[in-house]
Amino acid sequence: MLDLAFGRAARLAKTSERLREGRLPAEGLAFAAHGADGRVVGTLRLWHVAAGPERPALLLGPLAVHPWFRARGLGAALMNTAICEAARLGHGAILLVGDAPYYARFGFSAAPTGGLWLPGAFDRARFLALELAPGALDGARGLVSPTGAFAETPNLADLIASQGDASAAIAELRRSA
Ligand SMILES: CC(C)(COP(=O)(O)OP(=O)(O)OC[C@H]1O[C@@H](n2cnc3c(N)ncnc32)[C@H](O)[C@@H]1OP(=O)(O)O)[C@@H](O)C(=O)NCCC(=O)NCCS
Repeated sequence: MLDLAFGRAARLAKTSERLREGRLPAEGLAFAAHGADGRVVGTLRLWHVAAGPERPALLLGPLAVHPWFRARGLGAALMNTAICEAARLGHGAILLVGDAPYYARFGFSAAPTGGLWLPGAFDRARFLALELAPGALDGARGLVSPTGAFAETPNLADLIASQGDASAAIAELRRSA
């Protein structure tokens, strides 16, 4: 669904992706909306970052709703749920890179991110933030960096070994066929 919403190459090339790749989303802050048949029709996740030294924050995104289900309030429901839940869990601020005309309705603006930088190209007018605790981004300066837990990746040696086993089994089957 994310590939459909953004295009695979484009979404993986985003600067925000540099803050998400190889990491797990923040605990309790990954949301999915499901259609009647159980398929995912909307998604939104938040990620742990540092907004400059010693300043924990969340990075929001990607937010996407399946084209068939748009303009019915699903995006807003995902956003409002995520913001409420992040506040309930005690987080101080949410950052994101996205369209200001869409995110302004949830209280996001570019004002709190003026002293912050992202690890790659970005458009300052699209680098937005929302303070959940007043003043959480006061004086925030520096590079935004990822701080979330690492996602488990398969052990390459085990993978190659299992591929070897599979190839041997297939060769054996071919011989005996
Ligand atoms: C952005 C997106 C998640 C909105 O989902 P949705 O379920 O359609 O959102 P809602 O129904 O809550 O809101 C629809 C409203 O948002 C507006 N909207 C949608 N995308 C917008 C954008 N990029 N900029 C400004 N307004 C936008 C619609 O025009 C509509 O306005 P209205 O309420 O005045 O009619 C969805 O359009 C999507 O998945 N887009 C592709 C992925 C994407 O661009 N995601 C990040 C946005 S930067």
